[in-house]
Amino acid sequence: MTFLFNSDAQRGAIFADVFARQFPELPFAMDPATVDPDAVRYLITWTVPQDLSRYRNLEILFSIGAGVDQFRFDAVPAKLKIVRMIEEGIVRMMQEYVTLAVLALHRNLPTYLSQQRAGQWRDIPQPQAASRRIGVLGLGQLGQAVLDRLKPFGFPLAGWSRSPRQIEGVACHHGELGLEQMVATSDILVCLLPLTEETRGFLNAGLFAKLPEGAALIHTGRGPQLDQEALVAALDSGHLSSAMIDVTQPEPLPAGHPFWSHPKIILTPHIASVTQPASAARAVIDNIRRHRAGLDPIGLVDRSRGY
Ligand code: NDP
Ligand code: OXD
Repeated sequence: MTFLFNSDAQRGAIFADVFARQFPELPFAMDPATVDPDAVRYLITWTVPQDLSRYRNLEILFSIGAGVDQFRFDAVPAKLKIVRMIEEGIVRMMQEYVTLAVLALHRNLPTYLSQQRAGQWRDIPQPQAASRRIGVLGLGQLGQAVLDRLKPFGFPLAGWSRSPRQIEGVACHHGELGLEQMVATSDILVCLLPLTEETRGFLNAGLFAKLPEGAALIHTGRGPQLDQEALVAALDSGHLSSAMIDVTQPEPLPAGHPFWSHPKIILTPHIASVTQPASAARAVIDNIRRHRAGLDPIGLVDRSRGY
């Protein structure tokens, strides 16, 4: 029985170390050429390897990231469990990033950066946190964690998911009607949805029109969820005030793309959150142990939902 690590060598070395200490009875490999393919029961990777069928006894395909939209499900045999990454490091980093973004947009940072470059010393009327409503699209591992981290600031908090949720201190919405209600009352909208057929192109002109005048967008989901031209139009018309964007389509953006220089956009290169290898290795080991005890791994993907 072997665990095969198919990602960058730097993180692999840390995974190998954690496995050696915490799961010594499970052989750990990083070079597919050195393993007996029939021994490989667990594989961690970012994309599905071309030669997946080589591993006839594979039981779990782990994603090294939180998202699984990069996997083509039809290339993964139905008997295989697909498990996404849920680990404390990725959660903490997303909490940091979204808090940074909410505070930056709440405190008008894009405008102050433009004013600095133009040599202007001018203050902008500043609403208090209690009147800046935050809405989070997606109430999964990351959406909930982000809302939890935002609580002490005193923003009115809301969230939206597919199924009904109850979270203390958060107005929870679901379904079409819930979406309308939340979007109409979100001064800062945060996207933490997984990319599926239903969420592709979700952040579009129609949705932007439903946001309150002067609202701002934080996008940390996936690039194809955002209609980039519609965002630029909404910012240029003044309907939206600003945006902080971490994910784009394509990544990286081509030279000359309006996001590079738009004064109302802060752009980061898909760094909101990154899998932390030591805590990720511990999470994967726990999941293998759960699986071997007959329990579902944490983060088991429901292929019919796409996440
Ligand atoms: P989860 O699967 O835990 O949560 C997804 C949430 O989205 C759930 O609340 C789910 O609803 C909701 N949702 C999904 N589809 C719909 C829909 N059609 N309508 C309404 N709600 C929907 O995911 P995570 O929180 O762990 O991660 C979210 C995404 O964040 C990842 O898929 C990835 O794309 C992105 N990400 C980005 C990173 C970055 O660096 N920019 C890093 C890590 C992740 P329900 O609760 O009802 O199931
Ligand atoms: C992830 C990501 O899904 O890095 O983990 O975006």
